[in-house]
Amino acid sequence: MIPTPVRFDVVTLFPEFFESPLRIGLVGKALRQGIAEVHLTNPRDFAADKHRRVDDEPYGGGVGMVLKPEPFFAAVASLPCLDPREIILLTPQGQPLNQALLRELAQKAQLILLCGQYEGFDERICQYLATREVSLGDFVLTGGEIPALALIYGVIRLLPGTVGKVDSLKKESFEEGLLDYPQYTRPAEFLGYKVPQVLLSGNHEAIARWRLQQQLVRTWQRRPDLLAKRPLTPEEQQLLAEGLAEQHTEVEKQDARELSQLPSQPC
Ligand SMILES: C[S@@+](CC[C@H](N)C(=O)[O-])C[C@H]1O[C@@H](n2cnc3c(N)ncnc32)[C@H](O)[C@@H]1O
Repeated sequence: MIPTPVRFDVVTLFPEFFESPLRIGLVGKALRQGIAEVHLTNPRDFAADKHRRVDDEPYGGGVGMVLKPEPFFAAVASLPCLDPREIILLTPQGQPLNQALLRELAQKAQLILLCGQYEGFDERICQYLATREVSLGDFVLTGGEIPALALIYGVIRLLPGTVGKVDSLKKESFEEGLLDYPQYTRPAEFLGYKVPQVLLSGNHEAIARWRLQQQLVRTWQRRPDLLAKRPLTPEEQQLLAEGLAEQHTEVEKQDARELSQLPSQPC
């Protein structure tokens, strides 16, 4: 059975922003193959007044302009309604976007993405139109278009058929609670820098062990917060301890090499 395409509806004042990013790479291919659909709706087309205004001054005073509720409610009302769906408002105040959330959203039939601009949305859009608020991270951008695109890219990547081998998704960073292992390709030596010998050995068991060890060491060093949420098996604990000890020895060896290359002090 051919799965129904996931439908994204992006409500944006700048639909042209999405043109090229939705044509390229795996996302462009997935859209051409009908794995997902992206529809762009401009709330300005639903503004009631003759100037097609979508923003106004904030009640109570203050700088900047606030997005009016009517064009956004009308834009969403004009869309078809698929079940299950989410109406996601992009805002720095929302739930942080992560891999677990992307996986959850990839189960929906329709994702409506509301992109803000200026000072953001009238609070009634957040409270009574959106079903969820999502943030790209703890920083403020000028608009919700980049966060919406990041979400679209992240979800489409997870849809069956977008990425060739399902196994390659499983090993990516954050899947299974760990960062990805380092990857190498030809040549085996470049500017004197060598690919780790184990990867050239053809010993699949040793390669798998080395990769898991790299994942554990990287996650421990770069994102210990992830390991706090993912208990390690005794074997993984041992692999991690060995990996860290090995690195320590490598650093000592490197220090010794560098020391031996220092010009000797004149007497
Ligand atoms: C300048 S921001 C408004 C920020 C808002 N006044 C605040 O401080 O929460 C304009 C729009 O950009 C989008 N935006 C900015 N940063 C974002 C982030 N980190 N995640 C998601 N959307 C963001 C939102 O759609 C927002 O309405």
